[in-house]
Amino acid sequence: MQKNFRCRWLAVVALLLSVATAAVLRPAPAAAAAAAGEIWGAGYFPDVPLVSHEGKTLRFFSDLIKDKVVAINFIYTSCPDSCALETARLREVQKILGDRVGRDVFIYSISIDPQHDTPTVLKRYAEKFDVGPGWLFLTGKESDITLIRKKFGLYSDAPEGEKLTEHNLNHIIGNQKTGQWIRSSPFENPYIFAGQLGSWLHNWKLPPEKGRDYADAPKVRNISKGEGLYRTRCSACHTIGEPQAAGEKRIGPDLAGVTQKRDRAWLTRWLAEPDKMLSEKDPLALALLEAYNGIPMPNLRLSPVEIEALLTHIEEESHRVEHHGHGKHHQHGGHDGHDRHKQKN
Ligand code: HEC
Repeated sequence: MQKNFRCRWLAVVALLLSVATAAVLRPAPAAAAAAAGEIWGAGYFPDVPLVSHEGKTLRFFSDLIKDKVVAINFIYTSCPDSCALETARLREVQKILGDRVGRDVFIYSISIDPQHDTPTVLKRYAEKFDVGPGWLFLTGKESDITLIRKKFGLYSDAPEGEKLTEHNLNHIIGNQKTGQWIRSSPFENPYIFAGQLGSWLHNWKLPPEKGRDYADAPKVRNISKGEGLYRTRCSACHTIGEPQAAGEKRIGPDLAGVTQKRDRAWLTRWLAEPDKMLSEKDPLALALLEAYNGIPMPNLRLSPVEIEALLTHIEEESHRVEHHGHGKHHQHGGHDGHDRHKQKN
């Protein structure tokens, strides 16, 4: 698992450095043999029934992916580590794409623990994360779901008992009609992800939309190790000193000033093993869990060096926001920071 995280992290760095390097998946040899050059179609994907968190039965090929642009990931709701990050990341992507989700882009999170993840359990999970329309959480027969994963090459043959924790984390995004499928990672920049889904996958039918493309992505600066980690592993759920918009639901607490507010040893351990602290019923951890919708902070398998880098980044960013107000790094206008100074004392 740890290894997987590292590898993906490197993969994402590579991806951010050169957006164009995303590996376009080609049909597996068996499928390609059926008809050279033919895209993955009805003959390739199983048309098995799945049940959504809304209780609807839908067939995988004909109802869910046929002729559609989709983002699919495989999760399970009791997952202690990466699934929550993936879900939070997709939620950001959904926000960026707005009402196109459900209209010309569809998001599916399929459970790989269908025995436990009934439609009711999935519904509660979807509500916790406050997901919008056009995003379905799906369950079904385990053998059917395994078949779908195999078809996407997202199945790892882990030994019995490790199947859940060893599951392959990748998302896959694709356009069934054109046969373009790309594996993606939860650490990816949500703007790049949304850009691929919203425009790249649609290029065949829509003129490129100005201002809704990669150009929307925040400019790449030289960023510190801590900031890089923060952006890929934390920012889907946290903010640092960002004012909360009316009606906005947050997944995790704003982290401005947290390094001053909390004991350092507590923070360091929290970043290393939040799941363990929650299971040990650490009082502060339980209070936060309760305040944040029962979504547990995931264990992101951070090393001591990474934790130090993250805490330094949070500290510096808190300081910056306190003195310059929230906003892009080059903006100074607007806030004079008086109120924030008062709050601190
Ligand atoms: C999937 C969402 C998610 C991700 C990803 C995530 N967190 Fe959290 N975090 C939470 C939630 C939710 C809480 C509140 C406690 C709880 O519910 O377990 C929390 C709590 C915290 C706290 C305690 C805040 C306080 O007031 O004491 C810190 C610090 C923190 N997270 C830092 C991080 C850092 C650093 C990262 C990235 C390495 C990160 N988190 C990634 C969801 C997330």
